[in-house]
Amino acid sequence: MDLKGKNFLKMLDFSTEEINYLIDLSLRLKDEKKKGVSQTSYMTGKNIALIFEKTSTRTRCSFEVAAHDMGAHVTYLDPSGSQIGKKESIADTARVLGRMYDGIEYRGFEQEKVEALAKYAGVPVWNGLTNESHPTQMIADMMSIKEKFGKLKGIKFVYMGDARYNMGNSLMVTCAKLGMDFVACTNKKYFPEEALVAKCQEIAKETGATITLTEDVAAGCKDADVIYTDVWVSMGEPADVWAERIKDLSPYQVNAEAFSYAKSTAVFMHCLPAFHDLNTTIGKEIYEQFGIDCMEVTDEIFESERSIVFDEAENRMHSIKAVMYATLGNA
Ligand code: CP
Ligand code: NVA
Repeated sequence: MDLKGKNFLKMLDFSTEEINYLIDLSLRLKDEKKKGVSQTSYMTGKNIALIFEKTSTRTRCSFEVAAHDMGAHVTYLDPSGSQIGKKESIADTARVLGRMYDGIEYRGFEQEKVEALAKYAGVPVWNGLTNESHPTQMIADMMSIKEKFGKLKGIKFVYMGDARYNMGNSLMVTCAKLGMDFVACTNKKYFPEEALVAKCQEIAKETGATITLTEDVAAGCKDADVIYTDVWVSMGEPADVWAERIKDLSPYQVNAEAFSYAKSTAVFMHCLPAFHDLNTTIGKEIYEQFGIDCMEVTDEIFESERSIVFDEAENRMHSIKAVMYATLGNA
């Protein structure tokens, strides 16, 4: 498998074999780190730029720790700390950074921006989240499922909540590529875009996956192996959509009822950050305005034995290491 020089922009760009390769490489790199095997030669001498036009905890820290573990150096450009977009175009920024750095991570708004960056940079570009996709999260998520169940093919994966945004889109594509049974269980206003569903159904014919869209929680969650959700309002969306989202998506909250239909071995997953209690500023504001003390997932499920969200968060680092190593490493 040779992914050298490739960009990592969206899951549709990768074959089933390439995705499985990245998942298995992530598991190998995790095992090495746990055993104390030095990885500093993997990217010695490489310089990495991290551009964040939106905030981040996991993705930024994962790129930084992964780069440091593998002997590379990073520069972090925060949402206000560069000329990007305001005084300088993406194309010009790409041509400047491509002269100095060996690889560039970009988190921002429209997918076209990260695609343009990749077109002009001349070095590998990794998508650290756009409105449309979140590919590095996919490798971590699938790695976490494989750790738990020992396989991916045939796993029933149920996504509840806003299935039209980065997480819903990327998960549907990834499940299709990996031969999994993907269900978007939500209000039909929040089903993924028809064209993407059609594309995934085509992929599913090749891989044995299934793609189901349903508004019925009992049918959707029946015999699920994984129930997954994400915030109801994503970064960059206006605050005035909260009322409508709470009304539309509350029936699709991940709670004990949803899990009552799932397999006894089913796990809960979430890319994080999550609104499951009142220990956040936004959580408190929503409580004052709407009187609810959790949103997409109850605290009971989030804190339960079923929840693998912190394994999933740790796996962001191992899988981002795999993506950088495979596309840019000294292997
Ligand atoms: N899951 C995820 O991407 O988290 P951050 O926004 O903290 O990077
Ligand atoms: N859909 C969320 C994912 C965060 C990791 C957002 O874009 O804010």
